[in-house]
Amino acid sequence: MPLNIAIDGPSGAGKSTLAKRLAEKMKILYLDTGAMYRGIAYYVLEKGVDPADAERVKPLLPAIEMKVSYDEAGGVQQIIINGENVTPYIREHRISFAASTVSKIPEVRLKLVELQRQIASECDCVLDGRDIGSYVLPNAGTKIYLDAKPEVRAERRYKELSAKGQLNGMTYEEILADVNKRDYQDMHRDFAPLVVADGAVVVDTSDMNADEVVKKIEEIVHCK
Ligand code: DC
Repeated sequence: MPLNIAIDGPSGAGKSTLAKRLAEKMKILYLDTGAMYRGIAYYVLEKGVDPADAERVKPLLPAIEMKVSYDEAGGVQQIIINGENVTPYIREHRISFAASTVSKIPEVRLKLVELQRQIASECDCVLDGRDIGSYVLPNAGTKIYLDAKPEVRAERRYKELSAKGQLNGMTYEEILADVNKRDYQDMHRDFAPLVVADGAVVVDTSDMNADEVVKKIEEIVHCK
């Protein structure tokens, strides 16, 4: 059976940095499941549909053929929708909340969960998301729940956007409000919400840097 490491938690807890570095060190695949929800959000917005409008989103789903590819960009995951590589567009700030909103729709989740389970059954991988340990792969060998205080996560996000020149006038307070709003939505949806999965090890990264987080998780992975 392939090795699956599930990393869940709210946005800005450091999941993707950790998952990427762990996967590199262990020479296994990194599956960023948030990028899949972002891909759907981007597609829905491009069609002029409100991601909150489930009755208009659902009919779009059968026509979406999503592929997760590692062939381009030096092995970095790319999201391909109906042959178009949408990866360059899905990191924009406007997509973050749209992805959270569209991910409340069970039909959207079921479509992506099927793909996630298929990939996880075929190869050793680190997966990061919100429901990996609790819903997608409840039998994953290692489950981590990465957390950090909202103020710390907002500060990380602020610095990240600022470094990329993508703040567009947003203040730290506005980003903190967005973080709290997205947390609430991800934790309170009816279907497969963000929860600490049974058997998950909770790590609070508020006072840790990326190196310390990787070291801590390596200890947990190797202890298993
Ligand atoms: O990890 P991220 O910020 O790229 O995820 C964007 C949104 O996608 C997140 O706010 C909720 C949703 N998501 C989800 O519902 N389940 C996952 N496994 C991953 C992401």
